[in-house]
Amino acid sequence: MENGIVKKGKDPRPVGVFDSGAGGISVLREIRKLLPAEDLVFYGDDLNAPYGTKPVEQIRALAENAVKKLLSFDSKAVVIACNTATAAAAEALRAEYDFPIIGMEPAIKPAASIRKDGIVLSMATPGTIGSEKYRRLYERYGEGVISIPCPGLMEFVEREELDSPALHACLERLFAPYRDRKVDAVVLGCTHYVFLKHAIRACFGPETALVDGNEGTARQLKKRLEEEALLAPEGRKGETRIHSSGGEVFVSRLTRLYRWTEE
Ligand code: DGL
Repeated sequence: MENGIVKKGKDPRPVGVFDSGAGGISVLREIRKLLPAEDLVFYGDDLNAPYGTKPVEQIRALAENAVKKLLSFDSKAVVIACNTATAAAAEALRAEYDFPIIGMEPAIKPAASIRKDGIVLSMATPGTIGSEKYRRLYERYGEGVISIPCPGLMEFVEREELDSPALHACLERLFAPYRDRKVDAVVLGCTHYVFLKHAIRACFGPETALVDGNEGTARQLKKRLEEEALLAPEGRKGETRIHSSGGEVFVSRLTRLYRWTEE
């Protein structure tokens, strides 16, 4: 953007999007809704999932690898559709590459703004909650926020198990300590958990808001593409391609979840 004027782009190259696996598909859907003309290429690193319980150096190396993969498809910008990989690697990636790299963080800030006299529960991977980036975020907006690391939860989504007795039991266990508290909001601080919205919803009353960062991430991408004159030509219908480090079985699973988000 120059002098407040948005430059129109004509760049047909795709936007690359990656996650450790299925969670990023929920972000891909928001991007598709907001930017219908863009070609989108998704890379799920299913072979190396989960990221959230791995050491930070390993997550950084995997994120670097995922970006290289997306560059091999000629991506003009990359969305890290993963809170864990953003916390571990976004800064290093931005220092290395000069195209837009859009990351994510648990939506504690918007949740804090709607908190009344109750608490906010922030669900994320151990990797995200243990990160320096999260510590800084929490320092600013963490009043009344209780962080809940959820190892093992993303695996339900990877198995496409979005509504099973085992999932409900796992969620009940996670929320049991807060049964007697007034919960104003629950932050879905891992993109996988967005697929568990219905199951998480069932654990709370209507006064509890569920907050995620997906829509904000799509908006941020749009803004950056506008600023850098990287938008695709208007009026076209963008394509969506899905790849996985795990091969065809995972591509089919990711594609099924992508279609499911259309409903
Ligand atoms: N979907 C990822 C996130 O947003 C992490 C899941 C994982 O690989 O542990 O944090």
